[in-house]
Amino acid sequence: MANTAPLALADSGLWRQEALVDGEWIGAADGRTIAVDDPATGEVIGTVPDCGTAETEAALAAAGRALPAWRARPAPERCAILRRWHDLIMAAAKDLARILTAEQGKPLVEAEAEIAYAASFVSWFAQEGQRSRGHEVPAPTADRRILVRREAVGVCAAITPWNFPAAMITRKLAPALAAGCTMVLKPAQQTPFTALALGELALRAGVPAGVLGIVTGEAKVIGGVLTASPVVRLLSFTGSTPVGSRLMEQCAPTIKKLALELGGNAPLIVFDDADLDEAVEATMAAKFRNAGQSCVAVNRILVQSGIHDAFVDKLAVRVRALKVGAGTEDGMQVGPLIDDAARAKVADHVQDALAKGATLVAQAPASGRFTAPMLLTGMTEDMRAAQEEIFGPVAAIYRFDTEADGIALANATPYGLAAYCCTGDMHRAWRVGEALEAGMVGLNTGAISLAMAPFGGVKQSGLGREGGAEGLEEYLETKAVHWAGLQTGG
Ligand code: SIN
Repeated sequence: MANTAPLALADSGLWRQEALVDGEWIGAADGRTIAVDDPATGEVIGTVPDCGTAETEAALAAAGRALPAWRARPAPERCAILRRWHDLIMAAAKDLARILTAEQGKPLVEAEAEIAYAASFVSWFAQEGQRSRGHEVPAPTADRRILVRREAVGVCAAITPWNFPAAMITRKLAPALAAGCTMVLKPAQQTPFTALALGELALRAGVPAGVLGIVTGEAKVIGGVLTASPVVRLLSFTGSTPVGSRLMEQCAPTIKKLALELGGNAPLIVFDDADLDEAVEATMAAKFRNAGQSCVAVNRILVQSGIHDAFVDKLAVRVRALKVGAGTEDGMQVGPLIDDAARAKVADHVQDALAKGATLVAQAPASGRFTAPMLLTGMTEDMRAAQEEIFGPVAAIYRFDTEADGIALANATPYGLAAYCCTGDMHRAWRVGEALEAGMVGLNTGAISLAMAPFGGVKQSGLGREGGAEGLEEYLETKAVHWAGLQTGG
């Protein structure tokens, strides 16, 4: 397929259909490609190389060669390059959003918001990277000094998902580069073009050859090479818990550091004393962003009996009013799900819930490739949607009576990524916030994704944190340097 964009871009150079290895744009050695389609239409929008072992190993070798010079560069120099990358991303935000919507489906306004969110990680780590500090430990004898240094982990690998094709990349890549690491990135097969455009901008910003490699293709093949490689010292992955667990196993023989942002089953508890409008707003934000395709999307809405009916009535009005359609159309609020399998899974969850006694209270108009946003009440713990991520625009309501019941229901899951609580009582907010088993808690808000705050989960939702000061720590190792025999006189 010709290297021309299927959509109008101000900067057509952002439309790349090759992999990035050692600073060069390449095809697969055997010429094989993978088609990428627009989830709103099912039409193919372009192809990318079907990279295999050879291309992945070449990218890793280049990352290894580039590492000594990159980590030796003063942090302010590395961070200045990141700052330029940030500025180029923001200058190209409209084009990047068009590419993102074409391959992922989300409404253009949401895609633009994601680009700004993605860029915020780059600017955050361009600053944070200059603040990584070691320290000195008091030594046991006068002739000794002990310095604790923070050093780049080395060559890193990242495997990123399709639901946030820009932000999940910068959240890994920016801290890695700021810390002095190099990285080979494998973007999701469904959404490689946003990654490749970000790679093009990284080169323009001055990221040297080899410091960033991007290999497109099948996850199993490329993931197998990345996890087996002794060159890779850290693997960062965002995706499902079963895949995360498999990658962990594959990384065990070479003892890699792991940063895993895995599945969730987020509860949102609405107490009787909550501000009704605020609670509905928080629910809409936490449920329908990206058509519910987010690890921090509210999966279970737990509503106390006293406010239950009023809350359901208000939420139903909002759900019926949602505009569903192609992300490129003006005014759309909910786009298509990523593929047939995603649509089938959501439909199964709804069927299962209805068969077990749930009630469909409200639905927005939608047809064809688009899944209708729905509001279900009468949900119970035996339903599939209570135990698995719905990953779709279905708001599922569970009724509870006491605070203790609400907390117990919220924590009745092996996952612990995000949890939310709406209440007007600040004592309860703290009590419940502390009792929730989750890496992130939203109190009277459904929006918790910010570059300056650590993002990640407990229990089976993962290991490590992205964003915040903690996000840089993942890419740093500690080295204790002992100096002995010093004649200091002290
Ligand atoms: C995710 O779904 O994995 C991340 C979403 C976010 O950053 O808000």
